[in-house]
Amino acid sequence: MLAKPKVFVTRVIPEAGLERIRQACEVRVWEDELPPPRDVLRREVAGVEGVLSLLSDQIDAEIMDVAPNLKVISNMAVGFDNIDTQAATQRGIPVGHTPGALTETTADFAFALLMAAARRISEAERYVRAGQWKTWGPMLLMGQDIYGATLGIIGLGRIGQAVARRARGFDMRVIYNGGSDKAARELGAEARSFEEVLAESDFLSLHTPLKPETRHLIDAEALRKMKPTSVLINTARGPVVDQRALYEALASGTIAYAALDVTDPEPIPLDDPLLTLDNCLIAPHIASSSVRTRTQIALMAAENLLAGLEGRRLPHCANPLVYNE
Ligand code: DGY
Repeated sequence: MLAKPKVFVTRVIPEAGLERIRQACEVRVWEDELPPPRDVLRREVAGVEGVLSLLSDQIDAEIMDVAPNLKVISNMAVGFDNIDTQAATQRGIPVGHTPGALTETTADFAFALLMAAARRISEAERYVRAGQWKTWGPMLLMGQDIYGATLGIIGLGRIGQAVARRARGFDMRVIYNGGSDKAARELGAEARSFEEVLAESDFLSLHTPLKPETRHLIDAEALRKMKPTSVLINTARGPVVDQRALYEALASGTIAYAALDVTDPEPIPLDDPLLTLDNCLIAPHIASSSVRTRTQIALMAAENLLAGLEGRRLPHCANPLVYNE
């Protein structure tokens, strides 16, 4: 009987995914809550043919070079900015990711952040728990209307489109920059320049991957172009926003509110000035975290891993150039 391929899984993932991998592989799982430290990662990947990584694991050329037998890297996320895909392609290693499965769940959460920020729900909850609720107040915690407002989307890809679909139910006007013009036509979304989206949006939702050209896309200059009443929502990647500039903009009233599921770095340090602001809501990168979706993406990551180990084309490959495409 042939020996099973050895794989390293960098965290405990939903059981369905792990079970699928265990059926075909000899698996080592890093069981800590925190990502494996660099030296552990180096040691663990050294003898394996496959790695299942998470977005908090930096898989770069150095890691690939200590793993001469590595045939596949499978990232359990749609984003793969934690992996040096160019280095992987140069070494003939396909990189898997999990597009599609988390689209609707992430869009639900982006919309939840939008609504929570508009109606100041996290502030209201803190207010009640702090015993500050004394009576009905005619001006208590006044927020902003969502119905009929303008939603700007940066990156009308899968998730951006799913957010736009939700916005239609609130009779919002949707404008966008970057992404699918065909989908936009179907959704009734209007194409605008980046500057126009900044200037016209009541709510600005970011759905762009992190690439060198999107790092600090929302910087001080961009924030100055937004309305003073506007709300910024980020469920993409933390570094797409210049966080220092965001703090200044929120503290000085350049924009009204931010709702972030992603920060730079993650986790956000407890002494980060953003955490001192009432008009900033921060969640711990959980937009795709529903039981069904996390189970599905674990299964997708498992399928990518197994395909790579068997020399088959990955069902969802982040570096198709590895197949000379
Ligand atoms: C992703 O998949 O890239 C999300 O950020 C986490 O689910």
